[in-house]
Amino acid sequence: MGRYKQLSVHVLEVTMVPLLFFLVADCHPHNGQRSTITSALKLDIQPKHVTMSNEIFNITLSKPHGDVTGISYGGVQNLLSTHNVETNRGYWDIIWNNTGPNTTRAKLSGTSFEVIINNENQTEISFKRTWNASQSNEPPLNIDKRFIILRNTSGFYTYSIVERLKGWPISYIQNLRLVFKLQENMFHYMAVSDERQRVMPTSMDRKKGQVLDYKEAVHLTNSTNPDLNGEVDDKYFYASDNKDGKVYGWVSSTNPPLGFWMINPSNEYRTGGPFRQDLTTHIGPTVLSIFVSTHYAGEDLAIKFGQGEPWKKVIGPVFVYLNSNAAAKENPSMLWNDAKTRMNQEATSWPYEFPVSEDYIKSNQRGTVSGKLFVNDSFISKHIVPASNAYIGLAPLGEAGSWQRENKGYQFWTKTHDNGNFTIKKVISGTYNLYATIPGVLGDYKYTSIVDVTSGSNIKLGDLLYNPPRNGVTIWEIGVPDRTAAEFFIPNPPPQFKVHKYKNNSESRFRQYGLWKQYSVLYPKTDLVYNVETSNYSRDWFYAHVTRKIGNNKYKATTWKIIFNLANVSNASNYTLQLAIAAASQAELQVRINYENAEKPHFTTGLIGGSNAIARHGIHGLYWIYSIGIQGKLLVNGANTIFLSQILALSPFQGVMYDYLRFEGPHQ
Ligand SMILES: *[C@@H]1O[C@H](CO)[C@@H](O)[C@H](O)[C@H]1NC(C)=O
Ligand SMILES: *[C@@H]1O[C@H](CO)[C@@H](O)[C@H](O)[C@H]1NC(C)=O
Ligand SMILES: *[C@@H]1O[C@H](CO)[C@@H](O)[C@H](O)[C@H]1NC(C)=O
Ligand SMILES: *[C@@H]1O[C@H](CO)[C@@H](O)[C@H](O)[C@H]1NC(C)=O
Ligand SMILES: *[C@@H]1O[C@H](CO)[C@@H](O)[C@H](O)[C@H]1NC(C)=O
Ligand SMILES: *[C@@H]1O[C@H](CO)[C@@H](O)[C@H](O)[C@H]1NC(C)=O
Ligand SMILES: *[C@@H]1O[C@H](CO)[C@@H](O)[C@H](O)[C@H]1NC(C)=O
Ligand SMILES: *[C@@H]1O[C@H](CO)[C@@H](O)[C@H](O)[C@H]1NC(C)=O
Ligand SMILES: *[C@@H]1O[C@H](CO)[C@@H](O)[C@H](O)[C@H]1NC(C)=O
Ligand SMILES: *[C@@H]1O[C@H](CO)[C@@H](O)[C@H](O)[C@H]1NC(C)=O
Ligand SMILES: *[C@@H]1O[C@H](CO)[C@@H](O)[C@H](O)[C@H]1NC(C)=O
Ligand SMILES: *[C@@H]1O[C@H](CO)[C@@H](O)[C@H](O)[C@H]1NC(C)=O
Repeated sequence: MGRYKQLSVHVLEVTMVPLLFFLVADCHPHNGQRSTITSALKLDIQPKHVTMSNEIFNITLSKPHGDVTGISYGGVQNLLSTHNVETNRGYWDIIWNNTGPNTTRAKLSGTSFEVIINNENQTEISFKRTWNASQSNEPPLNIDKRFIILRNTSGFYTYSIVERLKGWPISYIQNLRLVFKLQENMFHYMAVSDERQRVMPTSMDRKKGQVLDYKEAVHLTNSTNPDLNGEVDDKYFYASDNKDGKVYGWVSSTNPPLGFWMINPSNEYRTGGPFRQDLTTHIGPTVLSIFVSTHYAGEDLAIKFGQGEPWKKVIGPVFVYLNSNAAAKENPSMLWNDAKTRMNQEATSWPYEFPVSEDYIKSNQRGTVSGKLFVNDSFISKHIVPASNAYIGLAPLGEAGSWQRENKGYQFWTKTHDNGNFTIKKVISGTYNLYATIPGVLGDYKYTSIVDVTSGSNIKLGDLLYNPPRNGVTIWEIGVPDRTAAEFFIPNPPPQFKVHKYKNNSESRFRQYGLWKQYSVLYPKTDLVYNVETSNYSRDWFYAHVTRKIGNNKYKATTWKIIFNLANVSNASNYTLQLAIAAASQAELQVRINYENAEKPHFTTGLIGGSNAIARHGIHGLYWIYSIGIQGKLLVNGANTIFLSQILALSPFQGVMYDYLRFEGPHQ
């Protein structure tokens, strides 16, 4: 009974009745009289650890830190890497800074442990830490980190409530994530999407390989699995947009095979909206859920708190799902398919009713916003047309498109139907702007009025109209306005690297190492020239406007030319170049009209971008859009040339990816 004595100490802190229930049930598990109170859920509180169990698995955490030290499931004592110390197996962590550019990585560690609820259906425990101003090595945040198990549920939930109070110092959060490191001798198959699944190399394979242009990318030269020799391993291959990255994980080669899956049931607590891209899984074997980071975006996505700025956010819950199926020995995708089904169930049950924290907003404190979105581009269609398959969402107040940099509040997104209608459900009460981005349509929509959502409200906005940027008739266009460069020419990887194999490579032609190098191979002396009459963007427009390698660690700025004919140029009129950029990395793009050597560019973006999407096989980072006016007197009858110069060239990774370019006739 020793451990129950200890447990009774905690009874003082917690919901009393259910816990006593539990004690009785657990002390007499075979007492027929009490058979209605099953002991399926167990909470075992030890001096330095706490274990929660149900019929299916158990999870052990360190106390009071709240690091996950063990997950026992499917006959395996611990799915987490027992080679790692207990603090390095399953944890929440943060990278932050407040006194200069040097950042600190720290665990979101508790200093006190509390049982929040423990009854026949649910156990929820909390690891809290209150910020102590005299401990400058700790981020200025109060932390309440929760773990939940439910009866008959194959996995656990975790969420964190993070909070700053008034008067607290300046600080930036660069990264905030949840990490699990699995047993490497068991987990060999990884799945991120239907297409991106494969047998993975091991960390030893990486160690024996050769580091490439950055440390994350390793050429596998001496892999234990000969099939993988010649490939590159790089965790950035497995990044996903928020909109696509709702489930991913690993399958073990044990008998029966076991699956370990991260399920992100909602994106409301993530940053940057549906197109925000981040890491998911990678060798280790590692499983992440990234809530805040500067990947594929740069410093814009770091959360920046001013002196004294209060803040509170509930991050999660996410669900870690465990499954197993003997038949998956032949086909590990079976467990992926089951995890996808489970992800859909979790997403449907969002918001959950069971998390105990009142900070986690339940469905009765949420509202609904619906409407129908149309596009008015009178140069394409006389009539307004429905905005189909658009991402439409509510996010904190800001300019059109500001949601991609927003990182302090909650965002709520959905997709419009073919007829443009949409219903955004389960929106936390609050004041929002409504934003949208429509595939095939340039720019960013923002609804003119503020949307105030209250508990239970059902706001019908009716018909909404987006007037995309448009000044005149299309003279030519390059690409498709969809916020990515995926439709342009994507080369094969350099021949020294074996093509990185996915279950299906057709979706991810751009997720290969070294594609940027192929620009210098294809255009060794002169830069890309695109003739709008004869060229084809999927064949002739390189997916990234990068620098040219001219020697060891030496790179040169590059200038692309677009050649087009005009007749009857109207000198007194203004033409427009609509320029949408899908990613920028330490770049400055300058535009010149007909005079390549004009000292002053007609237009410059200035220094933009920190997405690193070129190095990280991203195909897009943050989105930038410019409407550039061009006076008719700068154009000529006959052949004209637009020169696009990316002038910063210290590294192979500087440059831009274009989303879409359109040249429009006289302003009307
Ligand atoms: C967790 O489950 C495993 C396997 O059933 C068992 O060996 C272990 O003792 C359990 N741990 C705790 C603390 O209950
Ligand atoms: C945090 O670091 C970034 C660069 O990594 C820097 O730009 C920023 O100024 C720093 N913030 C603070 C509050 O010192
Ligand atoms: C920041 O880090 C660099 C490199 O680790 C170090 O040289 C420098 O002293 C640090 N600066 C501060 C203010 O701690
Ligand atoms: C547990 O769940 C069952 C079935 O939903 C319900 O009848 C029972 O009241 C629940 N027990 C508690 C303590 O919530
Ligand atoms: C805050 O930290 C200081 C220095 O470590 C310690 O002396 C003090 O007791 C702490 N205060 C609280 C309330 O924990
Ligand atoms: C356990 O859950 C499964 C589905 O997840 C369900 O089919 C089964 O009936 C549940 N069993 C009990 C005892 O609730
Ligand atoms: C390749 O691996 C084998 C054993 O795994 C080892 O003997 C050999 O030295 C390795 N070669 C290189 C180049 O690392
Ligand atoms: C659509 O846009 C055109 C200008 O491009 C404008 O004249 C027209 O009024 C707009 N239609 C609606 C329904 O707003
Ligand atoms: C959208 O419209 C279609 C057809 O009019 C209808 O079936 C569907 O329920 C509507 N969906 C939403 C989310 O409003
Ligand atoms: C590969 O993926 C593409 C695009 O998603 C799809 O059209 C194709 O059917 C897939 N091929 C196989 C063999 O699954
Ligand atoms: C452009 O090139 C692609 C790829 O080679 C080809 O599939 C497509 O048909 C071409 N389009 C035109 C209009 O020629
Ligand atoms: C063309 O643009 C210039 C500069 O923006 C402006 O001053 C002028 O009025 C415009 N002319 C026409 C005809 O729109």
